[in-house]
Amino acid sequence: MRRKLVWGNWKMNGSAAANAALPGSLAMHAKSIAGRVDVGVCVPAVYLEQDRRELAGATAAWGVQDVSAHECGAYTGEISEHMVSEFGATYAIVGHSERRINHGETGATIGEKARQALSAGLVPVVCVGESEAQRDAGIAEEYVCVQLTAVLNVLAPGQAEQIVVAYEPVWAIGTGRSATAAQAQSMHAAIRACLLARGGRQANVRLLYGGSVNPGSAYELFRCEDVDGGLVGGASLKSADFIQIIGAATGATGAMEQAHPTCEAS
Ligand code: PGA
Repeated sequence: MRRKLVWGNWKMNGSAAANAALPGSLAMHAKSIAGRVDVGVCVPAVYLEQDRRELAGATAAWGVQDVSAHECGAYTGEISEHMVSEFGATYAIVGHSERRINHGETGATIGEKARQALSAGLVPVVCVGESEAQRDAGIAEEYVCVQLTAVLNVLAPGQAEQIVVAYEPVWAIGTGRSATAAQAQSMHAAIRACLLARGGRQANVRLLYGGSVNPGSAYELFRCEDVDGGLVGGASLKSADFIQIIGAATGATGAMEQAHPTCEAS
């Protein structure tokens, strides 16, 4: 069984003072679930040092929300994977829809970012997800597989099995309207098939669901067979909510160990 993974995505929120409490409570909670569920937060890069201080020695990890597609050089404003790994970051989100839409990032660029992240030992969390119009047109699964394939095409053989994929439907992000468990399971099964079609050992790639995950929806989502955890935006900024979501992943793990998951693709 793949171990569940719950990551927070703080986006561009907070301040040094406001953020101080979050990693502390995460560190305390992570102790109690050590080894059951992997947890971490992707923070604005300027807070990496703060997170390193708060989370050092804890079983929670920290990472960033983007990295450069380049190793070093004349790329004003960019931050490389080597720089963030110096601060203990172990994960990097790449290809979030907010970057695809607001910064025009293409699949090839996102693939380069994932490749650079892997070269520094970071795990890239590759985000994919369709718009509402694409879902309504019945092309969501095909579109997401095209997005993923564009990234996989840039990776070297053997690298695809080292990534995490986050399915984040654009219509669910920040809207309070999460995908249903059946919609998530159906898409995750399609993503898994897309990965497996390339051969190799991609069966162990963890697939996260993201988009308005909250304490009320998390358990139903996480007990789906192919939903290996969540990428949590807004709810990761409230420590009580985030800890409840991690609890949902722990509960789903227990349920799945005892029985077959009940969530079925629609
Ligand atoms: P949300 O964001 O949980 O606030 O919808 C998720 C994300 O964009 O990663």
